[in-house]
Amino acid sequence: MALTVTLLSSKGGVGKTTASMLIATSLSRRGYVVEVWDADPQASATTWAEMASEEGDPLPFKVTPANIATLKSRKPEAEVLIIDTPPGEAGIQTPAVRRSDMVIIPTGSSWLDVDRMWSTLASMGNVPAIVLPSRVNTRTRKYRDLVEALEGAEVAVFDTTVKELESYRDLPGTNPKKIGGFSSITTEMLDLMEMKR
Ligand SMILES: Nc1ncnc2c1ncn2[C@@H]1O[C@H](COP(=O)(O)OP(=O)(O)OP(=O)(O)O)[C@@H](O)[C@H]1O
Ligand SMILES: [Mg+2]
Repeated sequence: MALTVTLLSSKGGVGKTTASMLIATSLSRRGYVVEVWDADPQASATTWAEMASEEGDPLPFKVTPANIATLKSRKPEAEVLIIDTPPGEAGIQTPAVRRSDMVIIPTGSSWLDVDRMWSTLASMGNVPAIVLPSRVNTRTRKYRDLVEALEGAEVAVFDTTVKELESYRDLPGTNPKKIGGFSSITTEMLDLMEMKR
């Protein structure tokens, strides 16, 4: 059975698609056979992959669209399946979460992001969830407050954070060469899933 990881948040623009693609890139580089299912009707991940192919430098993994029916019944072809989801569409999010071994919830540190992160966490049921601080400035008070609140609530959090950096903005549509903190994030993810090899 494939290891299935879903990127989830009821908040838009927190970095779900970026994380899906960079974790998949990192896993591919380590020799895992990976696929990404793009469950977002806006098709950001699919478009990303198509653009990279058109530029002659395709991604090292398959990206295919997925819908509610697919999420309920399709079997993955790869060792690791990453599911990228749209923000705030429970009809799609719920079947993605249900088939997942792990859910990653990216969140910024603004009050709106944090508020949505708690509601996303509350919708997890029994599926293990881990929060990924994303697009954050670690020197701010808001970021420290986020870390403190997560510690207080005993929520699992990645040690590695995704900083708000201009370099991430250039990645959509490309086969990423530099993946920043996503190499460590992938290592943490694999450690958590005890799948390291
Ligand atoms: N760490 C970062 N630093 C700077 N910009 C980022 C970072 N992560 C993502 N971005 C940019 O922010 C925008 C939103 O990122 P992304 O598409 O990954 O978020 P998303 O959660 O998938 O959004 P949506 O909810 O619309 O699907 C994109 O333009 C992306 O390039
Ligand atoms: Mg997205």
